[in-house]
Amino acid sequence: MKTVSYQNMTFEEYLTPEQIDAAVARVAERINHDYHNKKPLFLCVLRGAFIYAADLLRKLTVPTEICFVRLQSYQGMNSTGKIRQLTGLTESVEDRDVVVIEDIVDTGLTMHWLRHHLIENGAHSVAVTCFLYKPDALQYPDALPQYPACEIPTKFVIGYGLDIDEEARNLPAIYTRTQA
Ligand code: XMP
Ligand code: MG
Repeated sequence: MKTVSYQNMTFEEYLTPEQIDAAVARVAERINHDYHNKKPLFLCVLRGAFIYAADLLRKLTVPTEICFVRLQSYQGMNSTGKIRQLTGLTESVEDRDVVVIEDIVDTGLTMHWLRHHLIENGAHSVAVTCFLYKPDALQYPDALPQYPACEIPTKFVIGYGLDIDEEARNLPAIYTRTQA
């Protein structure tokens, strides 16, 4: 079992790079199918989604215009229940078919807030793809992701863009806490 340590905690490999690649490919195929005659605007939610966005876009055959926002809803390992917009939208989303690219949908607060914000700003449609989705943690029904790559239990995970206090984003696999 591959393990890594951060902040005196041990994490074990949960999804391998091969499993990640296959899951991203499955989402890409669905988006290529559903948007084949559209010109979507991809909106990557920084920081966590940058690696998933880079992998996903390289598997797409539809037009791949991309822009970025930076939102924060999380401090350490527990959600604060608040959204802060650290870097706002610079592109117009008016009449656009927006595909939000997120690292993980947990309670859904971030996607609930962002969907509302995009619709308010005139988006024609909003779909969400997230690399990880924790169905048991979802508290906002309108945050249900249309294109989740992997569903996971309600556990804290790191790697593949996801951090523990800004560390571990570069791990090529997803890791989870080992049971103490
Ligand atoms: P909500 O609750 O708004 O949370 O759906 C989404 C944001 O919370 C962060 N998050 C995590 N980050 N490991 C992380 O490194 C996790 O297990 C985890 N769960 C949620 C993440 O930033 C996401 O955008
Ligand atoms: Mg995030």
